[in-house]
Amino acid sequence: MKNLRPLFVILLSCYFSLHSGQPGAEPKYVGNQGCGCHKSQIKSWTRSAHGKAFESLKPGKRKTAKKRANLDPDKDYTRDKKCLKCHTTGYRENGGFRDMASTPELKGVGCESCHGPGSKYRILHDEKPSSLTREENKADGAWYGSEDPDVCLACHNDDSMMTEKIDPKYKFDWKQALEKRKSYHTKITYDFKFKY
Ligand code: HEC
Ligand code: HEC
Ligand code: HEC
Repeated sequence: MKNLRPLFVILLSCYFSLHSGQPGAEPKYVGNQGCGCHKSQIKSWTRSAHGKAFESLKPGKRKTAKKRANLDPDKDYTRDKKCLKCHTTGYRENGGFRDMASTPELKGVGCESCHGPGSKYRILHDEKPSSLTREENKADGAWYGSEDPDVCLACHNDDSMMTEKIDPKYKFDWKQALEKRKSYHTKITYDFKFKY
């Protein structure tokens, strides 16, 4: 039995290398393209405030708002760490936004900013698209902003430059904000037929 031990160690390490990225590993951000079947959400999100959140950091954009917040309207904020945290997807997290050269697909407040990093729940979603439950999704790292205000408050908080101290219109009421569908995407109308 003793001389089988090295073989066992090799088999064990093969098992772990094959299964990294599966149970046990932390979910990673994969970007909006991982959510490509949801065409109508992608389309409406692209036009939404969250979809355009990165553009607001460019010089010359949203000048009035920047001036009121004591920011320089002609400055380029697209590399400013302080801003990227809330104007990109998963900034500096596992698989999340780094910079425009390496992770351009994660600019703006993408799907995963509100739905959680998708590497794990996406696999499950592919396997059983119609029968997946919220509990199963959550176990694989999905978030539900309509159940948990913290999903939105991660960015809609006092660290933002645009708070009600600047203008009462920036006051964040979670329930009311959820009603503003135009700020994220159209309500889900399943884009494809399920096989039951
Ligand atoms: C990763 C950060 C982040 C998260 C998470 C986030 N938001 Fe936002 N939100 C922003 C930013 C940044 C803007 C402003 C975008 C811009 O105009 O540049 C914004 C804008 C908005 C606006 C104003 C849009 C408009 O059309 O005027 C609403 C409403 C809103 N968010 C609701 C929500 C809700 C509801 C959630 C949670 C389900 C949420 N947000 C989660 C960052 C975030
Ligand atoms: C803690 C998260 C957070 C940080 C940090 C942050 N923002 Fe934002 N930003 C937001 C949210 C949330 C909104 C949406 C406010 C709303 O519409 O209610 C927003 C909105 C904006 C807008 C649009 C305002 C308008 O009325 O058009 C600009 C411009 C902006 N931010 C620039 C910046 C810049 C520049 C920085 C860095 C210096 C920065 N933000 C840092 C969360 C953040
Ligand atoms: C600002 C936050 C926000 C962003 C960004 C966002 N969503 Fe959502 N989405 C929500 C909320 C809130 C719901 C309601 C269910 C929940 O709590 O997650 C929802 C629901 C959904 C649903 C239905 C889920 C279900 O359980 O029935 C799908 C599918 C979806 N979104 C896809 C997307 C896709 C694709 C993108 C990116 C193009 C995206 N979402 C970006 C906030 C967001």
